Amino acid sequence: MLPFYSSLLLFLAFSTTGGAVDMSNALIPKLCSNSSSTDPNINYGFCTTSLQAAPDSPCAGLRKLGTISIRLVKFNATNTRCYIKKLLKNRRKLHPFVRQCLDDCYELYSDALPTARKAAKAYAARNYVDANIELSSVADAPLTCEQGFADKKGIKSPLTKRNEQLFQLSAVALSMINTLQ
Ligand SMILES: *[C@@H]1O[C@H](CO)[C@@H](O)[C@H](O)[C@H]1NC(C)=O
Ligand SMILES: *[C@@H]1O[C@H](CO)[C@@H](O)[C@H](O)[C@H]1NC(C)=O
Repeated sequence: MLPFYSSLLLFLAFSTTGGAVDMSNALIPKLCSNSSSTDPNINYGFCTTSLQAAPDSPCAGLRKLGTISIRLVKFNATNTRCYIKKLLKNRRKLHPFVRQCLDDCYELYSDALPTARKAAKAYAARNYVDANIELSSVADAPLTCEQGFADKKGIKSPLTKRNEQLFQLSAVALSMINTLQ
């Protein structure tokens, strides 16, 4: 074998086996421990896991992480709105009270989506005051939705976990904005 090729093979062998690149972002645990200590609504593990799962988070700085967290809010709300829509497909099988709550939640989530988009726009324009206002309003949607189910005894919300996740994601995004402000 020619020397060039053998050294190329050696190089390839090294770059694949020895390629242990640290893809974690040291900023994430710092931000999340800061956020979770100042905001009791934020769970440290949830915060780090959510941000680290974003494919573009390893090299992200603070501002980009803020963009990512608002995007996570949008994705989450979009997915849950769709989930509620699917639950409502079986309208006649639903308990009338649950159906009413789900209708309300669908409306809340439908309003939360354009609001989250406005927050993203304000954030991109470094208008952190407006971004904060819009995101606070997004964070209210899952709370109000969940509260609806709690108003009647013996009724279990099918959205508890999703509401909790959207609320926490909004809290994470809000805390990033407050750090930048
Ligand atoms: C921690 O939070 C405080 C208050 O929100 C903020 O002033 C500070 O810059 C934050 N530090 C880091 C490392 O994010
Ligand atoms: C919402 O976000 C959380 C945290 O990133 C994630 O674990 C969960 O799967 C998301 N849920 C939906 C419905 O997108």
